[in-house]
Amino acid sequence: MVSSSYAVVRPARTVRGVVRIPGDKSISHRYAMLAAIAEGTSRFHNFSGARDCASTLDCVAKLGCEWKRLEDDAIEVRGVGPRLNAPAEMLDCGNSGSTMRMLSGILAGQPFTSDLCGDESLSRRPMARIITPLSEMGAKIDAAEGGRPPLRIHGGPLKSIHYRPEVASAQVKSCLLFAGLFAAGETVVEEPVRTRDHGEIALRAFGAEVERVGNASRIVGGQRLRPIEAHVPGDLSSAAFFLCAAALFPGSQITLPGILMNPTRARLLDILVQMGLKVSVAHLEEHQGELVGTIEARGAVWKGAVVAGADTAALIDEIPVLAAVAPYSDGGLEVRDAKELRVKESDRIAAVAANLRKMGAEVEERPDGMRIPGGQHLHGAELDSLGDHRIAMAFAVAALRAEGDTKICGADAAGVSYPAFFEELATVASR
Ligand code: S3P
Repeated sequence: MVSSSYAVVRPARTVRGVVRIPGDKSISHRYAMLAAIAEGTSRFHNFSGARDCASTLDCVAKLGCEWKRLEDDAIEVRGVGPRLNAPAEMLDCGNSGSTMRMLSGILAGQPFTSDLCGDESLSRRPMARIITPLSEMGAKIDAAEGGRPPLRIHGGPLKSIHYRPEVASAQVKSCLLFAGLFAAGETVVEEPVRTRDHGEIALRAFGAEVERVGNASRIVGGQRLRPIEAHVPGDLSSAAFFLCAAALFPGSQITLPGILMNPTRARLLDILVQMGLKVSVAHLEEHQGELVGTIEARGAVWKGAVVAGADTAALIDEIPVLAAVAPYSDGGLEVRDAKELRVKESDRIAAVAANLRKMGAEVEERPDGMRIPGGQHLHGAELDSLGDHRIAMAFAVAALRAEGDTKICGADAAGVSYPAFFEELATVASR
């Protein structure tokens, strides 16, 4: 049951069924932003209905780019070309770090000033990671103390840079590649470890040349974008909740058609297989450079795992749900090198630890990770999403194996990435 403020999740005996996972959030953001600066009208099927992506659409609309929903639920975005219109009002990015960070790359190259703000959570998140390189490229950006939102971006002519971000962040990489479109010369982003490459793939789909050599992505400025028609693959980070739910019950079975299989995101499947989930992928296809397939998963013995180094960056959005179900595994979960989790929509290390403890679990919280022993029995409790979509959904999954009901306060946060999540979970959980 879900009310606007809480959901009650009852224990399940198993999970079974087919779930149609909504369009990938990372790809939807990028498609909307690039469509806005393309010359002509783009059309997207299965575009994410997440609140975060609505924030991006709202922002591009304020920049002069009209969009509309079509009868078949696709959306059409009418691009205005590389020069957007100066916004008459504040660009509200809501809860979406992706909107603020990536759109800033485009706004840095515009001949006008833009103001960007966000909700309470986004207002606490670090923006120096984009402010520093965009300033080096020639933009002038004012921020609140500590490089936090709101941001005022005075855009203008940009020069290219060769930048090595300290943090592994696909948002920063995409921001700079988008800014690179407006810069004279070649912009290079050399990442510390490989992050999701939807920015590069989307830019190529819209007709831009982007080169990848080793861990560096390069783009030459002045390229113009052409509109596209695309089908957005199902979001693997949303699919993760159902895969972890299946992992909880030997004999469970879940089918997820049309899911994103991009190798920079699919490390999740390796880890789940290593932990004992039986996974097969069928009907592999490519849409606009992105791999898509149907996942079929069956629960078996649930073993433990260690997530560290490059894996942590590759699994950054799935760690909350892996951690939430880890107490039920045989070997538990250790997460290292995950300082970034502390600056997501909530401090996800603290949020996972606090909620697991409320369910009676033992957790060791560390500055950059956590260790959760396996073989534990959890009980239902009253939990808090802290307004974080992934925390709300991770604990709805953990609740399926707990003894007694679990109340998740702030469950409506799920709508930030997956508005129908609680309804879908209820359809596959058999009691
Ligand atoms: C995203 C990158 C990741 C991820 C976020 C989406 C993207 O953030 O956590 O949910 O679409 O590029 P960082 O770039 O901060 O690692």
